[in-house]
Formats: sequence, structure tokens, C-alpha cells
Amino acid sequence: MPKIKLDNCIFCMKCVQDCPSDSIDIQTGIIASTCIHCGHCVAICPQSTIFPDVDTIHPLNASTITPEEFETLSAGLRSCRNYQKKEVPIELLMSLVENIKHYPSASNKRPLKITIVNTPGNVQKLNDRTYNLLKKTVDLAISPVISAFIRAFVPSIDIRELQQYKKRLLEKEKTNHSIICHSAPAVLLFHGPVSKYSMSEADANIWATYTSLYAKTLGLGTCFIGFIVKAFERNKKLRKDFSLPKNHTVFAALTVGYPNVKYKNETSREKPQIFIM
Ligand SMILES: Cc1cc2nc3c(=O)[nH]c(=O)nc-3n(C[C@H](O)[C@H](O)[C@H](O)COP(=O)(O)O)c2cc1C
Repeated sequence: MPKIKLDNCIFCMKCVQDCPSDSIDIQTGIIASTCIHCGHCVAICPQSTIFPDVDTIHPLNASTITPEEFETLSAGLRSCRNYQKKEVPIELLMSLVENIKHYPSASNKRPLKITIVNTPGNVQKLNDRTYNLLKKTVDLAISPVISAFIRAFVPSIDIRELQQYKKRLLEKEKTNHSIICHSAPAVLLFHGPVSKYSMSEADANIWATYTSLYAKTLGLGTCFIGFIVKAFERNKKLRKDFSLPKNHTVFAALTVGYPNVKYKNETSREKPQIFIM
């Protein structure tokens, strides 16, 4: 629990007003167990007299990123599928992961753990297991019995397109041994317990998105790999092979490495449809 040192308190009530769980009794200096440890009280106290339950007080620097700079950063952030054959130092990967302490999580529950896969053997294993599961899934979908069922009940899935996709995959695998991981030197797995009521998937995608932005500022490229998420979802053995805690699955996977490509122009993309009510 954060600690309030009342000696320095000027009773400005800022902490009380900013607390999302109404947990602060400033008269007694007691914080109730309903506290979600979000640290707003620590962040807002003008006297720096509320101390966090982990770490110490760090004064916040004013952001110097302009809207134009953020727009430029966003425009330049592309999925990287072509990496240099160069290891990313573990210290750099650790700094990516350490910055996650700043990223939000539903109710500040922070149920996720991160696994850094960065040995060539393990990245290849992750690639091959995921690729084999993908091929099995496609094979099943295009098999005569299942495809008849799909044609009848899910007409939006185009079986012919899947058959072509399978053909293209088999052609590609002759020369490409990293169809899933794009020969990246490292993959970050964002995993957490499977639960009907948690918002771990949203947390993971938010953490991975912030991580990809931060990685870009460090000169690193990233790519979300949904195939890995689906593979972990469907295959318990894979969870065991990558030493995930019991009941955990991967909610987001991000390849990381030094990019081997540079983009000159912005992409042309549709804006989302916007409604104003
Ligand atoms: C949730 C999610 C899952 C994705 N899964 C994959 C994947 O499995 N393999 C891949 O190569 N790209 C994957 N991507 C990357 C998208 O294909 C990519 O974002 C999209 O084509 C737009 O290109 P850009 O990221 O360069 O702007 C994924 C992206 C998201 C957001």
C-alpha cells in the first residue's frame, strides 16, 4: 500500500479527488484495501509526501514530444518482416520490457508476464510449431467433410482461397524457414492467466503496441504475430514447451530486431468511418 506521511501534508485534497477507488482517508492518512495501486496519489501530491508501495518517488519530466513528432512516429511505424542478421542485446530487450511499468492495465491488475524468446533455437522452435499448427488448421478446413460443413454454415469463408493459400505456403516453405517469425532474432510473448472475466487480451495488445512504439525510437523493428497467439490458444503442449505458468496463454506476440528495410513514403490508408453524436 502507498504510505502517506501526514507531517508534510497540506490537505490540498488532490490525492483524495484523483483516487479512482475512493480509498484515501486523508484525515487519518489511511489508505483502504480497495486501493488498486495505480499510483495517482503519489503522482499528484504537490508535497511528495505519498510514497509508492514499490520503488521510490521519481519526479516526472514534462513531455517534449510535439503532436507533429508523434504523428511522424506513428506514420513511420510499420510491421517489420525483414530483419538484419544481428542479435538484439539482452540489455536492450530488457529496457523494452522494463518500460512496461508505465503502461496501463485494466483495473491496474497487471496479470501479464513477459517471456523473451531470443535464442535462435527457441525462435525457430516457436516458428516451426506455430507453422505446423497453421498448416494443420488449413488442412482441416479444406478437408472434404469439414469444408462441406464450412460451406453450409460459414459461407463467408472462401474454401478455394484457403486451398490457394495452402499452395502458396507450401511453395514458400521451400526457401523460407521462418514464415511465422520472419527470421527475427527475438520474440516477446505477453502471457497471462486465461479467465472469462479478465481483460488480459486488451492489456497485452496495449503493452505490445506501446512496446512497438518504444522499440521504434530505439531503432528496432517489430511485428505483431497473431498466428502465435492462435497457436498458443489451441495447443496446450506449446504452452508447456515455452514454460508458461499453468493456465497461462499468450495474448500478444511481437517479433523484435534491427530492420533491414527503410520506407520512403507514407502508406495510403483509409481512415476509419467516423460518427459524431
Ligand atoms: C493483432 C495483429 C496481429 C497480426 N498478426 C500478424 C501475423 O501473424 N503475421 C504477420 O506477418 N503480420 C501480422 N500483423 C501485421 C499486420 O498484417 C499489419 O499490421 C498490417 O498489414 C498493416 O501493416 P503495417 O503494420 O506495416 O502498417 C498483425 C497485426 C496485428 C495488429
